[in-house]
Amino acid sequence: MKREQINKLLNKVPTHVIVILTMIIWIVPTVGLLVTSLRPPEAVRSSGWWTVFGSQTVGGHYATYCAECHGADGTALPQADLTNPDVIAKYPRSLQLLALLRKDINGQPHMGDNSLPSAQEAAEIATYLREAGEEAGSKFTFNNYIDALVGYRGEDTYRADCAAGTQPPDLSCTARDILNPRGMGRAFINSLLVTIPATFLPILFAAFAGYAFAWLDFKGRFLLFALLVGLQVVPLQMTLVPISRFYAQVGLNGTFLGVWLFHTGFGMPYAIYLMRNFLGTLPKDLFESAYLDGASHWTAFRQLVIPLAMPAIASLGIFQFLWVWNDLLVSLVFLGGTTPVMTYQISNMVTSLGSGWQVLTAAAFLSMLLPMIVFFALQRYFVRGMLAGAVKG
Ligand code: HEC
Repeated sequence: MKREQINKLLNKVPTHVIVILTMIIWIVPTVGLLVTSLRPPEAVRSSGWWTVFGSQTVGGHYATYCAECHGADGTALPQADLTNPDVIAKYPRSLQLLALLRKDINGQPHMGDNSLPSAQEAAEIATYLREAGEEAGSKFTFNNYIDALVGYRGEDTYRADCAAGTQPPDLSCTARDILNPRGMGRAFINSLLVTIPATFLPILFAAFAGYAFAWLDFKGRFLLFALLVGLQVVPLQMTLVPISRFYAQVGLNGTFLGVWLFHTGFGMPYAIYLMRNFLGTLPKDLFESAYLDGASHWTAFRQLVIPLAMPAIASLGIFQFLWVWNDLLVSLVFLGGTTPVMTYQISNMVTSLGSGWQVLTAAAFLSMLLPMIVFFALQRYFVRGMLAGAVKG
């Protein structure tokens, strides 16, 4: 097919259909991750996450035919507790179940005056009962999150171990466990301590520099700006060795300050570039009349630039935040395992917990939470800011 034909075809699809499709593609795995992270390990091992939604409809048949006497959860008749696996095991197939339903109980028809379910419906009821028996506890649990937060590395779960009185490895079963260096709770704090300054600093400096490049006349302005644009292509990996040797000399290895400076340095070229282009599009008259009124550069920066550049600042903020938050390489090289951040902790779980990956899903979801909140809080600015960079770029 030719390109124009494809374009024509795509033009016929309404935009909102494409948007909805994109959203579904994005949201289905996310929901899957969330559901898995909330399920008990046995359930995760035996069935897919989507099955938690399925039993609702099968439960529908149970509700119509059986709930009247057996109760909504199957436990209304203690002698015939339908959540008891031993009772259910006697009727694994619809045929056996139907035979039971046809038999009289205490001289009365089992189903009373109600009609019997069809063979198909009986099969679904049998499946429903089996699942209810297996998951007699609850379908969802926070155990994965607790295990991930405290960094539990045992065979069972943190809560079960603590309840049984067996000391989990490295843990004390007190509230202090949340700060266990191997857990996601501690790593979350470390990640915040790394990310907030490493997002704030480059944007602040870039706003200053962008203002200078856009509205101050100084020698070598264009040369410097061209140099900055060129710096954007320098790969981060190239500088790891020289910078870590330099950090070792000045004692910055393993400190937050070292990581902040590194991220600031690498965030700034693009941030300055975007800020300059954005500020350059602001009307010149605005600044000239401000200077005529006697405003200093500092006042102009504070009262004109900051409020007007909010879309650019916000979109830079999102990008820089996501980049630093998801970064593993820099934090691994400069912080290492002594001050683990979330990405580092997650990578640890993959290697040592090959089988217990429901903890990994909880850890992954924990590390996704903040980026999602930031994105949804700032998304209003997001598109505007991206366009701002593109118009004059
Ligand atoms: C009209 C009331 C009523 C309805 C409707 C009903 N049951 Fe029962 N069911 C009973 C009673 C009463 C017992 C016997 C409890 C006892 O052991 O004393 C029983 C017992 C059972 C037992 C246990 C038998 C055993 O071996 O111990 C199963 C399994 C069962 N019912 C399944 C079902 C299913 C599945 C449905 C829906 C398709 C259903 N029942 C609908 C009243 C009912």
